Amino acid sequence: MSRSHPLVLGIETSCDDTACALVDAGGRVLASAVSSQLRAHRPYGGVVPEIASREHLTNWPAVSAAAFDQAGATLDDVGAVAATRGPGLIGCLLVGLSIGRAIAFARRLPFHAVHHLEGHVFSPFLSPDGAPAEEPPARFTALVVSGGHTSLLAVDEGRVSSLVETRDDAMGEVFDKVGKRLGLAYPQGPKVDLLAERGDPRRFRFRVHGVRGEPFFSYSGLKTQTLRRLEALERAGEVPAGERWDDLDAVPQAACDLLAAFRDAAVRQLESRLRHLHARRPLELLAVSGGVAANRLLRRRLERWAARNRVPLRLVPLVYAGDNAAMIAYAALLRQRRGEADDPRHVAVASRIPFPP
Ligand code: KG4
Ligand code: ZN
Repeated sequence: MSRSHPLVLGIETSCDDTACALVDAGGRVLASAVSSQLRAHRPYGGVVPEIASREHLTNWPAVSAAAFDQAGATLDDVGAVAATRGPGLIGCLLVGLSIGRAIAFARRLPFHAVHHLEGHVFSPFLSPDGAPAEEPPARFTALVVSGGHTSLLAVDEGRVSSLVETRDDAMGEVFDKVGKRLGLAYPQGPKVDLLAERGDPRRFRFRVHGVRGEPFFSYSGLKTQTLRRLEALERAGEVPAGERWDDLDAVPQAACDLLAAFRDAAVRQLESRLRHLHARRPLELLAVSGGVAANRLLRRRLERWAARNRVPLRLVPLVYAGDNAAMIAYAALLRQRRGEADDPRHVAVASRIPFPP
């Protein structure tokens, strides 16, 4: 693989994935290693912060070695270092940011403390097969859908401003909560998606409120409605209560139908907000990212919406939808091109950081 020096080393440890990536000056991803901690957290049904930070410390040597190996590179090839500064779990962030700061300081390299969301925003421009990244256009709209965020953002010459935010739960969060209540193992979002593929969304239909006044997202109402329906199905004996579904094939059809209706309403809400924005000011390009951007229905529907409305669409490649370090390295590369950098001695992590700052 041809590549241009120097490389950007990316580090991402904001939640339960330990990730290390090497991206070259053209935005080619030479390596993107992600070590998930699924097994460590599965007994608890969700991420345990204290376990997650310890796991990062344990996993980092192997994960970084794998990334350098895959890229055929050494630390001498690295020209800049980037790590996530937040938002996320504080102990987890501290591990990655401290490693990044130490490498940058010791080797006198430029350092970038990257906002996790900034990483997601530009990830749809990465290529999954080692080609250079696409140069993001000067102006575009970003939709970030993850476990912590549901945001529509306007990006203008690298500057980001908020257009639509969630007032309560994030989209991925409700996928996880609904799945957990049904008895699915962590992480629930992808399993809910899979089961919804087998369901008929027309048996239960949830209303999506249109936009009145300022647009916003809200997913807690949909979550409550879905959970109420689930209770009703349990009372009616259509779905056994208190079950743990390790075998997804055993999940009853009624539950699949409910999940299909839930997923359908969740995606219709996205479409409704996009329609609203597009009617006020046509979108120049829509870039969709975040863990929930792996959702099958979301991808199909947004492809159709974009084609109908002649909006150029960039759906994040599946490998970069969930948390990864390639997106952090690429956001840093773009910052570097704009002449931005941070002093590794004076950066701190934060569990909550507004975005845009
Ligand atoms: O971006 P990400 O890896 O981490 C955060 O920054 O939150 O997103 C993780 C979220 C989780 O809530 C997970 O359940 C959800 O993305 N997710 C999905 C799918 N794959 C991952 N939700 C719905 N459908 C999927 N296929
Ligand atoms: Zn994320």
